[in-house]
Amino acid sequence: MSDERTSGIDRVGVVGLGTMGAGIVEVFARAGLSVVAVDGTPELAERGRGFLERSTGKQVQRGRLSEADQQALLERVTFAHELTALADVDLVVEAVPERMEIKHDIFGTLDGIVRDDAILASNTSSLSLTEIAAATARPERVVGMHFFNPAPVLKLVEVITTILTDEAVVTSVRDLAERLGKKPVVVRDRAGFVANALLIAYLARAIRTYETGHVTREDLDAAATAGIGLPMGPLTLSDLIGLDVVKEVCDVLYAATHDPASAPPALLQQMVAAGRLGRKTGRGFYDYADGAPETPAPEGEVVTADTPEALAQALAADGVRVELHTESPKGRLAEIVCGATASEADVAKARASLAAAGLVPVVSRDRAGRVRDALLLPHVNEAVKMLDSGYASAEDIDTAMTAGCGYPEGLLQMLDRWGAQRVLEGLREMTAETGEPALHPSPLLVEHAATGRPFRG
Ligand SMILES: NC(=O)c1ccc[n+]([C@@H]2O[C@H](COP(=O)([O-])OP(=O)(O)OC[C@H]3O[C@@H](n4cnc5c(N)ncnc54)[C@H](O)[C@@H]3O)[C@@H](O)[C@H]2O)c1
Repeated sequence: MSDERTSGIDRVGVVGLGTMGAGIVEVFARAGLSVVAVDGTPELAERGRGFLERSTGKQVQRGRLSEADQQALLERVTFAHELTALADVDLVVEAVPERMEIKHDIFGTLDGIVRDDAILASNTSSLSLTEIAAATARPERVVGMHFFNPAPVLKLVEVITTILTDEAVVTSVRDLAERLGKKPVVVRDRAGFVANALLIAYLARAIRTYETGHVTREDLDAAATAGIGLPMGPLTLSDLIGLDVVKEVCDVLYAATHDPASAPPALLQQMVAAGRLGRKTGRGFYDYADGAPETPAPEGEVVTADTPEALAQALAADGVRVELHTESPKGRLAEIVCGATASEADVAKARASLAAAGLVPVVSRDRAGRVRDALLLPHVNEAVKMLDSGYASAEDIDTAMTAGCGYPEGLLQMLDRWGAQRVLEGLREMTAETGEPALHPSPLLVEHAATGRPFRG
């Protein structure tokens, strides 16, 4: 009856009711599907029910859901602790821990339980879908359905296909994602898919920049928020994701590509070894023991001027210059660039004066790209390289970062706004200074700079 509308998917299963699984259950139930939610024991299944009741209860309190709708939503979900409860579902999304042996075990067992025409999907962030599919006798009905955290909020769903996946299965899963109100991006099985490959390489670079000591953690993060318009700085975001997870994805990317840009930085490895994993352990790049970390207020003599430009001029001193970034979305970043002869007093004065004028000051050593461009330009270059490799379209690359990582605009949209020529020049300056192969501009970027052709039409 409703087959056409739902692509044949009415009844779904979710295995693993942790951070992701619990959110995915909610997404399905909200969209009106009936859900069988499974965890390893009756207690864990009950814990899963608790997550759903609390999460939907909050929405009732905020007036976003009526009590009757909450009740109907909860009635659509059955909780179980045996995979056999999934015998009659059309599709299962697996969200158990990121370990191949666990995924293999689940997929092998599910294969013998679910109907022959059922689809098996994994929420894996970094494991090979092809390898997961090999645990079943139905690899053509196995796909990735990669939700982002928090699943009820973030719109991106990466639908991962393997060389064996049936085209009709891809269509069903993409249609289902749309029915859930999500933005599906269909890509082939490749380490990191789109969003994590780009995001984690960017975080790794930010950590390496911090490791040089050229910039403080607060300033590095401020360059990303004020200068690029990102919702949070890379060190804050790494702490939120968990440094162990960031390292794990770096390991996977590096093993697949041998690209030094995604190798886990030494500092990251040391922090993971020391158990400083970020928010979840109370300490990562920042200390969360006493709540959210605070940015120290600048101290120093305050100079005023009529315009930011006049202030920047007034603050120039031996070894100190101020670069204003008025083209950033918030137009507020001011980089205080310090040469070898800069005096602490001049830098403190510049910082205090710029902050008093409503700008966001960031202090950096005098290196190519300073802080903001050193973060942004390699990030957009990686996006162009991905496009050039034929892995994903410009639109999909941008959707991955906006719908999956909360970017205010896609990396290629940003690039168009900034101009390929400027990005190219910045990358060339950084390459000349560091000799780093990862900073070499993509040939496609060179072409766009030469022709003036935008990446997004
Ligand atoms: N956490 C994230 O930000 C995030 C984002 C996207 C994708 N992912 C991926 O989602 C998957 C799950 O991650 P998570 O963070 O939700 O993990 P989690 O540890 O929070 O939850 C895993 C759940 O699986 C259950 N489980 C373990 N073995 C099981 C079994 N044999 N049968 C049934 N349930 C079992 C656990 O009890 C737990 O409830 C991983 O593949 C991860 O890479 C995570």
